[in-house]
Amino acid sequence: MRVVLGVAGGIAAYKACSLLRLLTEGGHDVTVVPTAGALRFVGEATWAALSGKPVHTDVWSDITEVPHVRLGQQADLVVVAPATADLLARAATGQADDLLTNVLLTARCPVVVAPAMHTEMWEHAATQANVATLTERGVHVVPPASGRLTGRDTGPGRLPEPEELYAVCARLLARTPPASPTSSVEMPPTRAVDGVSPRSDRRGGGAGDLTGRRVVVTAGGTREPLDPVRYLGNRSSGKQGHALAEVAAARGARVTLISSSSLLPPPGVEVVRVETALDLEAALAEVAPGADAVVMAAAVADFRPAEYAAHKIKKTHASGGDGSLDASAPVVTLVRNPDILAGLVQARGDAASPVLVGFAAETGDGNGSVLEHARAKLARKGCDLLVVNEVGLDKAFGRDDNTVHILRRGTDEVTDVGPASKVEVARAVWDAVLPLL
Ligand code: CTP
Repeated sequence: MRVVLGVAGGIAAYKACSLLRLLTEGGHDVTVVPTAGALRFVGEATWAALSGKPVHTDVWSDITEVPHVRLGQQADLVVVAPATADLLARAATGQADDLLTNVLLTARCPVVVAPAMHTEMWEHAATQANVATLTERGVHVVPPASGRLTGRDTGPGRLPEPEELYAVCARLLARTPPASPTSSVEMPPTRAVDGVSPRSDRRGGGAGDLTGRRVVVTAGGTREPLDPVRYLGNRSSGKQGHALAEVAAARGARVTLISSSSLLPPPGVEVVRVETALDLEAALAEVAPGADAVVMAAAVADFRPAEYAAHKIKKTHASGGDGSLDASAPVVTLVRNPDILAGLVQARGDAASPVLVGFAAETGDGNGSVLEHARAKLARKGCDLLVVNEVGLDKAFGRDDNTVHILRRGTDEVTDVGPASKVEVARAVWDAVLPLL
C-alpha cells in the first residue's frame, strides 16, 4: 500500500525514522514528506536513504508530476508523526503552504496524526480546538503519551512509541482497498538499521481474534438538557467504554463507538457523538442491526426533564399573570427514558446475534450485596453478560483502574477482574464475549 509519512518539526522526528522502518518492512511503499522544520531535526539524507525515495518539503520540486495533488490522491494512508501544534493549526484551518499541508488537503484516504509537543502547548485551548476540528472531520488522532519531555519536564505530550503508531496504521491499512495500483513502484530495500529494528510481535493488521467481527460500544454518561446551560448528568467519564473500543479495534474488530464522552476516540474506530439517551437510542437503531456484539458501557440516564426550557431558568421567575416575581425553587418534573438495553434484548428475540453486554454500577445496600443486585439485574435485563463494578465516591468513576465481576446469564459463573487498568478490564470483557460469538 502507498503510505505518506508526514513529519513536522519537533524533536520526536527522530522516532519517525523507526516508524518509517516498520512501514517499509511491513511491505508498504512510503513517501516521506517532512516540513522545513522537521529537516532541522532529521536531515533529508536520512529520510531519502530509509525510504529509498527523494524527499521534498515544498510544492515546487518535480513540478511535472504535480506532487502536491498526486501524493495525497494516490495514498492509501497518510500518517503525520510527530504533528506539532503549528502543523495541527495549519491542517485544521486548511492551509496549503507546504507540500505536507497540500497532501492533507488532497488525501481521500484515512489520515492519522500523532501530536507531540510540550504539555502546555497540547493543553492550550487553541490546540485542543484544532484537534477537535480534525477529529470531527474523521482524522484519527493518536493522543500523546505522558512521560518525560525534551527538557526536565514531564506530562502529556510525548509521541507514542513507533510500534504503537505502526499498529494503528496497520489496522487502518488492513481495512482499506488500495487507492491505486502500486505494482510499478519499486520497494525500498529492507536492511536492518542499527537501533531501529522493528518489533517482532507487531500488533494490528487484522490478525486478532476479533477479525471479521463488527462490534458496537457505547460509552460515557448521557446528558439530559434542562435549559440551554444545564443538564442532568452522571459521573461516568467514558474511559471504560473507550478502552473497550480500543481493545476491540486492536484485536481486529470493526468498531463503532457511540460516545457522549469528551475523551478523544481511539484511532481506527468509527465514532458517533451523542448527548442524550434518546440520541443514543437513535444511533444504536442505525448501527446495531447486523452487529456481532453490542457492549453497553454507557451510563444511560433513566429519567430526563419532562420539559426543556428554551431560555435559561432564572433564579427568580414570573409567577401567575400579575407579573410578580417568585424566588422559590422551581420543580423539575422527570419522565422515564427508554431502557435501551432491554429494547435491544427484545429486538433480538430468539436470534443468537448480537451478543449483548450490559454494565452495572452498583452499591450494596440493606436489600442485598453488589453481586445479589447484579444477579437480579442480569435476570431482569436478559442480556448475555453483565459487567458489574462497585461504585462509590472514590471508586470507578473517572479513575484509570477498575474492579469488576463478569456474570454470565444462565450460569453461576463469575469472573473477577482487578483491580486492573480499564484496558485490562476491556480485554477480560472481550475474552468473555468471544466464546459467545
Ligand atoms: N441502560 C440502558 N438504558 C437505560 C438505563 C440503562 O440501556 N435507560 C443500560 C446501561 O447502559 C447498562 C445497563 O443498562 O449497560 C445497566 O444500567 P443500570 O443503570 O445499572 O440499570 P438500570 O436498569 O437503570 O438499573 P438501576 O435501577 O439499578 O439504575
